Amino acid sequence: MAPTLDIRPEQAADIAAIARITRLAFDRTNGEEVEMIARIRASPRFIPELSLVAEVKGQPAGHLLISRETLRLADGQPTDHAVLMLGPTSVLPAFQRRGIGGALIRRGLNLCHSRSEPMVTLFGHSDYYPRFGFRFARKFGMLPAWDAAMVYLLRDDLSEFQGLYLPD
Ligand SMILES: CC(C)(COP(=O)(O)OP(=O)(O)OC[C@H]1O[C@@H](n2cnc3c(N)ncnc32)[C@H](O)[C@@H]1OP(=O)(O)O)[C@@H](O)C(=O)NCCC(=O)NCCS
Repeated sequence: MAPTLDIRPEQAADIAAIARITRLAFDRTNGEEVEMIARIRASPRFIPELSLVAEVKGQPAGHLLISRETLRLADGQPTDHAVLMLGPTSVLPAFQRRGIGGALIRRGLNLCHSRSEPMVTLFGHSDYYPRFGFRFARKFGMLPAWDAAMVYLLRDDLSEFQGLYLPD
């Protein structure tokens, strides 16, 4: 990991840099993730202390967003069950594979432990996220039953959420 890595919540002055990092990291998706972050930031789903910027030598090089969401019914309708959703995660291409993404995810998950939501959810690569403690949602009876659907437990018992769908 870069010795000069600093992770902190976003400030208003970081918004353009976060958009740039996200656009460059997701260079094949036509700005979809940039729009998603802006939409969440403007909504009650946004949790300012869980929008984290990673700085290398004082320059933003990575970003992680964890936002408030709800589990869904099969038809997509929201339930009353609040959860946290991790992503997007972005690191500038020139700074990838130095541990910045991992450091952001670990810091974000640590911060989640002081909250009341029962889990952090995501759709992501099943080769990558288990190293941070994510497990297949289907193991807890949640859906969809794909490998990409994963949960990080913030409490031991998730049985009351069986049959519900992760937010996407
Ligand atoms: C995913 C991302 C945030 C990881 O950041 P990073 O700083 O490169 O991550 P780290 O240095 O902590 O970890 C690198 C390790 O993660 C692995 N890794 C990174 N992205 C991966 C992916 N999508 N699938 C599987 N493994 C992945 C790498 O193989 C590497 O492991 P290795 O060096 O042992 O091969 C960064 O690669 C990125 O911005 N990617 C483009 C955007 C994206 O796909 N975001 C994730 C979906 S929201």
